Amino acid sequence: MSKRIPLIAGNWKMNKTATEATELVQALSATIGKESNVHVVLCPPFTALERVSGLLEGTHLVLGAQNAHDKVSGAFTGEVSVVMLRDLHVTYVILGHSERRAIFGETDAFVNRKVLSALEASLRPILCVGETLAEREAGKAFEVVKTQLEAGLAGVNQAKSDQVVIAYEPVWAIGTGKTATPAMAQEVHAFIRATLNTLFGIEAASRMRILYGGSMKPDNADALLAEKDIDGGLIGGAALEAKSFTELVRSAARSVSR
Ligand code: PGA
Repeated sequence: MSKRIPLIAGNWKMNKTATEATELVQALSATIGKESNVHVVLCPPFTALERVSGLLEGTHLVLGAQNAHDKVSGAFTGEVSVVMLRDLHVTYVILGHSERRAIFGETDAFVNRKVLSALEASLRPILCVGETLAEREAGKAFEVVKTQLEAGLAGVNQAKSDQVVIAYEPVWAIGTGKTATPAMAQEVHAFIRATLNTLFGIEAASRMRILYGGSMKPDNADALLAEKDIDGGLIGGAALEAKSFTELVRSAARSVSR
């Protein structure tokens, strides 16, 4: 049985003003604020980080950001650094999300620099990997995931590897309502675990959490989380409502007791 504590992270994307965030966080604090069997991470947009940071005090909920630049300061108009995030008590940072890769042209090399910069600042990266539909249909899913992992984690020290969380997000499942079946997801998660074994050794890899992301909802979460190598979820749409996000966290809590 796995001893990894499940992690459920809400990726709010470009949603929620600071005012709307307050409402959602207050609702979540009431339902899951004391949940201790699951690590729950909220990733609001930058503009709501400070507000949410204050609201999370005294709860078990943890703050995450959705992106960061690799440099700590300088002439990078519009960017935010890991040091700035740390100062707001951010613990996790999503890096290499497929929307950043596809819409903003982020390369594996850039994502890797961000991962190293985050670790240097004691932030925990949630490194996203995953194939597009065309890549899956061409039989290249494993190859794509392997390249993204190896390139994204280049230079990461084994001693820090358990600070890194991997999120497997098949691009074709994000925001589409199409989820990978538990078996399909597990197959890739097992492959990711094997790749991590090669990179960091079995012991270190067995401590690393691998999340599934892509239309994870209350009605499919139990089955996905029951899989051996699925240690939680990176949740988009269902993280925007207190009810569905609460149900997902409860689902992860149930997966521990099974
Ligand atoms: P989704 O998004 O849950 O809305 O599919 C997941 C993500 O993009 O992280």
